[in-house]
Amino acid sequence: MKKNIVLIGFMGTGKTSIGRRLALRLKMKFVDTDSEIENITGKTVARIIARDGLIRFRSEEALLVKKLSQQEGLVISTGGGIVLFPENVRLLKEKGTLIELFATPQVIFNRLKKKKDRPLLMKGNMKEQIEALLKEREGAYDVAEFSVDTGSVSQEEAVEIIARYIKEKQLFQK
Ligand code: S3P
Repeated sequence: MKKNIVLIGFMGTGKTSIGRRLALRLKMKFVDTDSEIENITGKTVARIIARDGLIRFRSEEALLVKKLSQQEGLVISTGGGIVLFPENVRLLKEKGTLIELFATPQVIFNRLKKKKDRPLLMKGNMKEQIEALLKEREGAYDVAEFSVDTGSVSQEEAVEIIARYIKEKQLFQK
């Protein structure tokens, strides 16, 4: 069985771009949960959250996690809120290795400040919202078995670090 590689972490930590590169590097299929939900529903994530509500979005995520956790050989980039729900974590761990991407609030802010597609950060001062939400979610991403600080390395380096970790883990398991 080729385990899934599941990237978790806060918004703006690079899950989608690093996940896509990692999948290319390891010749695995790439799935981004936000994009997949947009494909399935025909609506943007921002629109689902604004019009149908956050609870509806979370249930779309939970449904998708169920589906993806039955598959193998995927690199999955998850939305930043997916691991807030223990059942999602349990399912993702069944066939996957969880890797956390993280960065400081300042780095996250610099990456997201011009973006308008993160409704959870659009209610006021974005920097303050990032800090508050990170605090609220403290420990939530600790469910990962390996973490990479994407603020201190390039995307290519992050890909190499993760690829090396996965390779060493496979060697160890044989
Ligand atoms: C969210 C993160 C977003 C997206 C939605 C909610 C969150 O994904 O799923 O806006 O609760 O952290 P990214 O982490 O890919 O930005």
